[in-house]
Amino acid sequence: MDETSIQIKTPLPGPEARKILELDRQFVSPSYTRDYPLVARRGAGMFIEDVDGNRFMDFSAGIATVSTGHCHPDVVRAITRQAEALIHMSGTDFYYPVLAQLAEKVAKIAPGDSPKRVYFGNSGAEAMEAAMKLARYHTGRHRFIAFLGCFHGRTFGALSLTASKAVQRNGFGPLLSGVTHVAYPNPYRCAAGHSAAECRCTGIEAIERLFRTAVPPEEVAAIAVEPIQGEGGYIIPPPGFLAELRRLTDKHGILLIFDEVQCGMGRTGKMWACQHEGIAPDILINAKGIASGLPLSVMVARADLMDWPPGAHASTFGGNPVACAAALETIRLVEEKYVANAARVGQYVLDKLASWPARHPKVGNVRGRGLMIGIELVKDQQTREPDPEARRAVVQNAFERGLLVLGCGESTIRLMPPLLVAEHHADTALEILDRVLAEAEKR
Ligand SMILES: Cc1ncc(COP(=O)(O)O)c(C=O)c1O
Repeated sequence: MDETSIQIKTPLPGPEARKILELDRQFVSPSYTRDYPLVARRGAGMFIEDVDGNRFMDFSAGIATVSTGHCHPDVVRAITRQAEALIHMSGTDFYYPVLAQLAEKVAKIAPGDSPKRVYFGNSGAEAMEAAMKLARYHTGRHRFIAFLGCFHGRTFGALSLTASKAVQRNGFGPLLSGVTHVAYPNPYRCAAGHSAAECRCTGIEAIERLFRTAVPPEEVAAIAVEPIQGEGGYIIPPPGFLAELRRLTDKHGILLIFDEVQCGMGRTGKMWACQHEGIAPDILINAKGIASGLPLSVMVARADLMDWPPGAHASTFGGNPVACAAALETIRLVEEKYVANAARVGQYVLDKLASWPARHPKVGNVRGRGLMIGIELVKDQQTREPDPEARRAVVQNAFERGLLVLGCGESTIRLMPPLLVAEHHADTALEILDRVLAEAEKR
């Protein structure tokens, strides 16, 4: 596959894509959320080719998952080698080298100085389930505090923490009892009306008020938070927020869980997003980018917390050998070069985007760390009212010009390319976005 340029040769969707869309419409669960009809056949690096031979540049990375790009040759080699040797042997009942080796690697790179141990699952939601169960088991407490706008997955435990979009919860109650949500601090939409530059709100006051009124801290097992909110809108909380959470949880013997499923594994230009603030959690979860697209998640906790006995929690496929081999290779590549690339190219993109709120009336705010960048669209810059219709048009029109992006929050476009993205890819992507934004603004 030519990996160097966008090429759109058919109307979208093309004839082969239409056949698959029809099959999908008949047989696949309608609960999935597809923004546009991309039917992918293969991928290489920054590019995806569809079933009609159209080539797209991917600034979505399979939702922040193909961290090393599509089908990185080193990752493919690691997967192939492992698949030829051993595909499955269930780490819940047997031992095999890659599982222990990956646990050692993850424990070593996890934030914080204390020794760590690692639990393996298959998805972000599973990692959160494991974190919640460990927190309850270890503390003997039952309550959790989570944040409005945060997304932690869709299984019942994780969903009970998730408060990103009402449709994700609607019809599934009652969810886990004992979960209380508080506002996530958002400098662009600060409830106290502070500007992004001056906002020092931390949401901590709300938690302290809860402790005095409705939620006895002695009953709280853990506070779960995304260090940068992902699905909720790529929101970076004000500096000091994580430190305040750390102080509060330490004071009350509450565990602090960082959900780095989306923002971890090099995406923000450091291995973990919490490292920008120098704060370590008690439990960290990661999935998405860890194995370049193979299903794998980790829940890494302070070793002294992992006091649950054999049989307390496990999963047949969690820590599958092929996924572990992909993860070891992914982490090697991320550490060697892609985390630095994410920092460099991320800053390059942010610098270029800095002028957009002045040039584009629909751009209310641009924010980001590394390659986790949000462009929030608004009806007008004074009221800051979100403009989901403009976002829909921009995402759709970008697709038609060969650029894959996704939305998050109410009206934010998120840029989350593979971590190997180069400046010239970013130039092309921004040219397309610039054009489709200008078109949306004319309407
Ligand atoms: C921060 C965060 N946590 C958890 C999840 C759930 O991951 P999964 O879809 O693999 O269950 C996601 C998925 O988008 C996420 O962004």
